[in-house]
Amino acid sequence: MKKKLVIIGGVGSGQLTMSAFQEINKITNEWEIHGFLTDIKSPGEYLGHYPVLGATGDVMKYIDEGFYVHNALFFNAKDKVNRVKRFAAFNIPLDRNATAIHPTAYIDTETQIGYGVLFAPQSSTSFAPKIGNFVHVYNKAHIAHDAIIDDYVTITGQSYVGARVHVKEGAHIGVNSSIREDLTIGTYAIIGMGAVVVKDVPDFAVVAGNPAKVIKMLL
Ligand SMILES: CC(C)(COP(=O)(O)OP(=O)(O)OC[C@H]1O[C@@H](n2cnc3c(N)ncnc32)[C@H](O)[C@@H]1OP(=O)(O)O)[C@@H](O)C(=O)NCCC(=O)NCCS
Repeated sequence: MKKKLVIIGGVGSGQLTMSAFQEINKITNEWEIHGFLTDIKSPGEYLGHYPVLGATGDVMKYIDEGFYVHNALFFNAKDKVNRVKRFAAFNIPLDRNATAIHPTAYIDTETQIGYGVLFAPQSSTSFAPKIGNFVHVYNKAHIAHDAIIDDYVTITGQSYVGARVHVKEGAHIGVNSSIREDLTIGTYAIIGMGAVVVKDVPDFAVVAGNPAKVIKMLL
């Protein structure tokens, strides 16, 4: 039987996630995709081929009806802490958070992957990294061997997470950045676009540049 799915989120990361599920369906036909829950469009409006069904706060109605969900709202780096708190309070069963691995992603067979994860087109992993729950890995990003990626981390396009790097909860790895092997990226830290990270990054720090330096703290 097909699994019913709604995407939490709309324009941007929500649509990118929807597109991954559509591509997966061309191969497995496992998802009955219903539409989006978003607060920035009204019910009945469309995003691509799929309708807006309701607001993000309606999520439990869909869980009660047996739906799976995929939450694309954790992409937003600056509001992520609040979004994580808000959705944790719903207590959505973990196994109802659908993971999407785009057919063009290359995932090493020893990679461990949690729930609610997205691997976008041409993203990849090498040997045995551990990927937590609600992690989004965008186009052409790479996670090297034995890296540990905690829950709610976002690894954006064309970035490179080196071997044995530990990216802690909620961190945002900016577009086209590189992280040297064996480093730790702190909780909810933000790595700026194009950064070359050669030292550990503290929790809640924003770093940018080559070599990357702290430009501000979020707390
Ligand atoms: C690093 C970042 C978070 C800073 O954003 P911000 O807090 O709004 O900071 P500002 O834009 O006010 O910039 C602060 C200073 O840092 C500099 N700066 C910002 N981003 C930078 C970057 N990526 N590399 C180098 N310097 C950067 C700015 O030029 C500015 O310098 P100034 O004070 O000398 O003028 C943001 O620029 C960034 O790179 N975000 C990641 C974006 C991303 O990955 N998007 C995904 C796309 S889908």
